[in-house]
Amino acid sequence: MALVRAIAHDGPLIRPASMSSPKSPTHVRFAAVGDIHVNKDSAGTLRGFFAQAAEAADALLLCGDLTDYGTAEEAKILAEELAAVAVPVVAVLGNHDYESGTPEAVVEALVKVGVRVLDGEACEIEGVGIAGVKGFAGGFGRGSLGAWGEPAIKLFVQEALNEAMKLESALAKLRTPRRIALLHYSPIAGTVQGEPVEIFPFLGSSRLEEPLLRYPVDAVFHGHAHRGTLQARTINGVPVYNVAKPLLQRSRPDAPPFFLYELPRESAQSTLSEIPETP
Ligand SMILES: [Fe+2]
Ligand SMILES: [Fe+2]
Repeated sequence: MALVRAIAHDGPLIRPASMSSPKSPTHVRFAAVGDIHVNKDSAGTLRGFFAQAAEAADALLLCGDLTDYGTAEEAKILAEELAAVAVPVVAVLGNHDYESGTPEAVVEALVKVGVRVLDGEACEIEGVGIAGVKGFAGGFGRGSLGAWGEPAIKLFVQEALNEAMKLESALAKLRTPRRIALLHYSPIAGTVQGEPVEIFPFLGSSRLEEPLLRYPVDAVFHGHAHRGTLQARTINGVPVYNVAKPLLQRSRPDAPPFFLYELPRESAQSTLSEIPETP
């Protein structure tokens, strides 16, 4: 299987590894994917995929747009597909999970099968801290929408600020030496490159990057930008991975559409590693 392991942040960029390499006693391995978009016809179609991911990793990270319309029916199907997964599953919701106005139904179905759904909270998996939030839109850098003018614009910007504050609050709770941020929207422009530039402002917000500068993490995972770029970095060098399933499928057609990433169980420096693919 064409996977590679990279040594971050200042080591050699990429060296080969294998999908079939066993889980390591010295590392915690995560399988991350977003934008599964379960619909009413998905029953029975994802069990093998989740089983493969669970076999390859110590935990699954799901980066939102878990369902297509956020209906209770879709959520039930997703929960049934996940029910047999024997490793911890941590998720954030995406915008699609809100479409029917009942995100709580999606959360409830997932919680019933043991999924930890984060919305401004943090959890810990085998000593690795995970802070999760959906995030929001608003644009990047100088293109960020400002809270100025009509009340509707101010409300829109306030939503992005609220999500950023929730991320900061979750990050502040973590005491683990290794930390991951889990999002749906992107905190940087780098991983939405490839999408039409006209829709960049709807794919994420630099406001989500600000907490990541104050509370550094080892890696950030997000989805939402189905035609974006697999990897880029925050301005302080933290790797950001867009693990939207359609992007993984398109960029690595021979690999299963989840992204493997591992962190050392100890707090030793310069051993941070990830397992993306070779092209
Ligand atoms: Fe999506
Ligand atoms: Fe989305």
